[in-house]
Amino acid sequence: MDALVIQGGNPLSGEVRISGAKNAALPILTACLLTAEPLKLGNVPHLKDISTMLALLGHMGVRVTLDDRNQVTLSGESIPHKEAPYEMVKTMRAAILVLGPTLARFGDARVSLPGGCAIGSRPVDLHIKGLQAMGAEINIEHGYIHARCKRLKGARILMDMVTVTGTENLMMAAALADGTTVLENAAREPEVVDLARCLVAMGAQIEGAGSDVITIHGVEKLHGADYSVMPDRIETGTFLVAAAMTGGRVRVTHTQPDTLDAVIAKLREAGAAVETGPDWIEIESDGTLTAVDVRTAPHPAFPTDMQAQFMALNCIAEGAASVSETIFENRFMHVQELRRLGANIEVSGYTALVRGVPRLDGATVMATDLRASASLVLAGLVAAGETTIERIYHLDRGYERIEEKLTQLGARIKRVH
Ligand code: UD1
Repeated sequence: MDALVIQGGNPLSGEVRISGAKNAALPILTACLLTAEPLKLGNVPHLKDISTMLALLGHMGVRVTLDDRNQVTLSGESIPHKEAPYEMVKTMRAAILVLGPTLARFGDARVSLPGGCAIGSRPVDLHIKGLQAMGAEINIEHGYIHARCKRLKGARILMDMVTVTGTENLMMAAALADGTTVLENAAREPEVVDLARCLVAMGAQIEGAGSDVITIHGVEKLHGADYSVMPDRIETGTFLVAAAMTGGRVRVTHTQPDTLDAVIAKLREAGAAVETGPDWIEIESDGTLTAVDVRTAPHPAFPTDMQAQFMALNCIAEGAASVSETIFENRFMHVQELRRLGANIEVSGYTALVRGVPRLDGATVMATDLRASASLVLAGLVAAGETTIERIYHLDRGYERIEEKLTQLGARIKRVH
């Protein structure tokens, strides 16, 4: 298994190019199931979760080709296997995203129940309830969700909780339904908007994406399209925090600053100077930061996927701050590992109180989930001496060439087998 070894203490400086967004690319890839025509996608990041999704789509019968300009073309002319098997769903929960489009186009889909995962129980009941409201008959059998219908019917669906992939699944299903669907309390995440734009390019009729009420007028057929995936706001945020913590000056390019308002506001509050342009963000800090309170909530509030990184920032900031996680239970697994590096963190329920310490010390730590791993890399970049991060396959699920990009900015980091 691979590990990352970091020698801490180097300020980051220079320019880094942001990759396509994992969480936008995953649903957009599954949109190919809605049409018999080819869907051509650019800016798809090279990540483990993306290859898992491509393998799943390939297993279902989609023809996947990659051209020399790194464009992925997906042709779902016929889909002989309308099923997402357990082996694939257990490694990547986003596999649930094939349910809505497959059911809507073919009237039949089987997807393994995801089961537990490292950051909480994460049920998919809202995906199921929404499809039932649209007329699907759903049975849970042998650990699988089996959904059937003639043609889905438009419905008014009020979701109990804000769910990102739930909104995406139902939006794709509704695109081919008979009549109009209104999703209330829909997720407003930028990735939902990106998927809606791709669906509209494929001929869907969608209004309100980006607000909490999305209206979808179902059409009989969708066609192919050529679409480029939005930049990754979480990768962007992670590099910004890295620059702030190490006391550097970094320009992130090919990004979308307006998707990061809450993160940029917190970085400024912590004392970093941040400037933005149309597709770039520049950050400068002398490494002296003030601890900032953070409370995660659905977009446009502070993203749960940046919680662990700000926990790392607070570990070396002046003062104390609270970090509250309101989206996922059990998303504080990085706390134990950060403590191994000398952090002072107390957890009480959904809130962690972080008291800044003058310095962290390198140690061997273990990555437990994707964003927790990112927080350990950030801590390693400022810790005195050497930090070894084990089990970095979590990191490879969501960060493209992270050690190369950090090296280019002056970090001393290497991958060892
Ligand atoms: C997506 C993101 C993930 C991010 C999360 C929250 C992808 C591929 N992943 O995950 O990176 O951390 O949004 O921004 O886009 N819930 C239910 N029932 C459901 C669905 C969700 O109770 O049917 C609960 C979950 O357990 C969780 C909350 O709703 O507590 C939000 O989850 P959700 O937005 O669905 O997360 P994902 O879409 O899985």
